[in-house]
Amino acid sequence: MQLENKSIIVTGGASGIGGAVSRELIARGAKVVAVDINEDAGQALVNECGDSAAFLNGDVSDPETAKKAVALAAEKFGKLDGLVNNAHASRQKPFLELEKEDWELSFGTGFWATAQFMKAAYEELKKTKGAIVNYGSGSAMSGQTTQGAYASAKEAIRGLSRVVANEWAEDGIRVNVISPLALTEGVEKWSKAQPEAYEKVKNQIPMGRYGDPAKDIAPVVAFLLSDDARYISGQTVMADGGTQKLY
Ligand SMILES: NC(=O)c1ccc[n+]([C@@H]2O[C@H](COP(=O)([O-])OP(=O)(O)OC[C@H]3O[C@@H](n4cnc5c(N)ncnc54)[C@H](O)[C@@H]3O)[C@@H](O)[C@H]2O)c1
Repeated sequence: MQLENKSIIVTGGASGIGGAVSRELIARGAKVVAVDINEDAGQALVNECGDSAAFLNGDVSDPETAKKAVALAAEKFGKLDGLVNNAHASRQKPFLELEKEDWELSFGTGFWATAQFMKAAYEELKKTKGAIVNYGSGSAMSGQTTQGAYASAKEAIRGLSRVVANEWAEDGIRVNVISPLALTEGVEKWSKAQPEAYEKVKNQIPMGRYGDPAKDIAPVVAFLLSDDARYISGQTVMADGGTQKLY
């Protein structure tokens, strides 16, 4: 029960990696506010986890959603110890085909939502000396084709995470980034749209397989939120089967 009674917000926390993260945090004793646009998956989480989970149906790109999520965590669980900025929607297109809406979708749900949620959570996290986990991507680090809008937002998230980790260190708030690789519905959709790119990525994974959201990714997020990671901040942790090495 590494996270006993910790109150944690997980954006995109109803399904995919976020759904696995919500369940893992609860299994380790936490209470979770899952923020998602998928009402059915959100209700399924609450049905499964009972009082340990609260669901907020909201779009993370709307700044009001972040404020509502923090208020819900404080009201329902009395405090806020952690924030997981997992949600991120995007469209894959060659750079020259990307339109304003594509940039807005990726930066709105990825970078801007991460910034808004961190800002909204600050006062509560300061009280608990809490922790934040943001999300990067190996495809952004390697410059994978067709990921212009997504990769730019992901690297902006990493840049901001390092700055905020430094600025809020004196408040006792830690900020880290996880860069996962896992087979989710989102990745399955992408694999059907771009089977060659999917196979190429798979062939580059030294461990030879995509990660499992529950077994390979969620425990790493739980660790970063826990007191076991109390001396780790401003880092990017690669949970990708050894694909990318950061030096
Ligand atoms: N799956 C991978 O291999 C991989 C690789 C690198 C990075 N990532 C990152 O991990 C995170 C999770 O990825 P995933 O594959 O589980 O994604 P996914 O698309 O499978 O699931 C994302 C979840 O976010 C929700 N969501 C989407 N748009 C939203 C919005 N506007 N507001 C609120 N909720 C919204 C969805 O309903 C879903 O529950 C993302 O930040 C993604 O970029 C994933």
